[in-house]
Amino acid sequence: MNLTIIQLGIMHLNDCLDLDQKSLEGLWSKSLWERELTDPKRICLGIKELETKKLLGLCSSWLVLDELHITSIAVDPIHQRKGLGKILISDLIKRSKSLQIKRLFLEVKENNKPAKAFYNSMGFKRVGNRSNFYKDGSDALILIKETNI
Ligand SMILES: CC(C)(COP(=O)(O)OP(=O)(O)OC[C@H]1O[C@@H](n2cnc3c(N)ncnc32)[C@H](O)[C@@H]1OP(=O)(O)O)[C@@H](O)C(=O)NCCC(=O)NCCS
Repeated sequence: MNLTIIQLGIMHLNDCLDLDQKSLEGLWSKSLWERELTDPKRICLGIKELETKKLLGLCSSWLVLDELHITSIAVDPIHQRKGLGKILISDLIKRSKSLQIKRLFLEVKENNKPAKAFYNSMGFKRVGNRSNFYKDGSDALILIKETNI
């Protein structure tokens, strides 16, 4: 499989909505994705298969001073566990370093075991939690990764 990382923009709206439905259970509405893909303070990356031009994964983030808040990451279920998420986060870390970003942070659902294992493998550390953070009442863990480590 030949892959390429791209910067996502409004032209990828339908692909993002599609991947959101498949991998994130419809996390965001069309208007939220529109904002995500057009706001200059956001960094949205995609990973595409060159042959089919299909979007297989995405990662969006929000620049807040010298921190980057990862707001979503998703890989197409049939392509999970093939290293695509790792490629996306590694690329985001590389870009963060060149933008003088000191740390990345995110929230993950306490019961999302695959995502927790993924972030752990990428060197994220737990620094706290937010009670009752999600609609279903579950807690969020707050994870951080320093970009200089
Ligand atoms: C979390 C997610 C983005 C990971 O992407 P991925 O491409 O499948 O992950 P990778 O293949 O790059 O995995 C890298 C490492 O993370 C860990 N990992 C990833 N998925 C795992 C799983 N299901 N179980 C245990 N460990 C896992 C492993 O250490 C893996 O390395 P290995 O395969 O060599 O053992 C993907 O599972 C996904 O889209 N999940 C649904 C959406 C979601 O929950 N997003 C996070 C919201 S906070």
